Amino acid sequence: MAWEPGLADRARPTIIAVDGPVAAGKGTLARRLAEHLGLRYLESGRLYRAVAARVLRAGGDPGNADDVIAAARALGDDDLAVPELRDEAVGNAASVLSAIPEVRAVLLEYQRAFGRTPPGAVIDGRDIGTVVFPDATHKLFVTASLEVRAGRRYGELRARGVDCELEQVKRDVAARDARDRGRDIAPLAVAADAVVIDTAGLDAEAAFEAGLAAITGRGGGPSGDG
Ligand code: CDP
Repeated sequence: MAWEPGLADRARPTIIAVDGPVAAGKGTLARRLAEHLGLRYLESGRLYRAVAARVLRAGGDPGNADDVIAAARALGDDDLAVPELRDEAVGNAASVLSAIPEVRAVLLEYQRAFGRTPPGAVIDGRDIGTVVFPDATHKLFVTASLEVRAGRRYGELRARGVDCELEQVKRDVAARDARDRGRDIAPLAVAADAVVIDTAGLDAEAAFEAGLAAITGRGGGPSGDG
């Protein structure tokens, strides 16, 4: 499908915010949109996970502000590629330390600099459309029921050879969602001008078509292009 003429050529970089809870399908959608639209892609959760991995490796406490702020300030490109980044322990620790304001402040700068670099970016996370880029060109909020999301995360973990139980994964996902929604700073929330996409029952291709339709204004969602 052809891209809307002019959108990627503007002086102001195009920012597409893709927010949503755990395992909602943000990453798959955001990566495909970025490829299709010729934009850069940033998985912001990777930054929080990289801080968490650094803290855990150093034997620190993800709830301790001093440990976490030091790790965030020392973050380098190598930290974004460590093998344990997708571990559930790292994801859970990321959701604990992401409530610490100084950590968010350090990572905010990185995300804004990334997004402002031409031609712009598709960025997925929790607060991209609400805090990081409240003036994003387009905002999508991707979601699905807890059952569907826990089932997906369980499948991903099993595919990686992780021994786990569906019920435990479901409890972890629910706990992480509750922390992300309930924190004081930059909680997970639907931006007022976001298009909500429920990915339950949509495969990756269908979610991509829905996301693209929301952005281009074809097939329903507002173009949000003002
Ligand atoms: O991929 P998954 O849905 O498991 O999570 P993630 O996107 O890798 O994010 C891991 C954790 O980082 C989340 O549970 C959030 O607590 C935190 N995070 C955040 O606070 N803000 C963001 N923009 C992205 C992630």
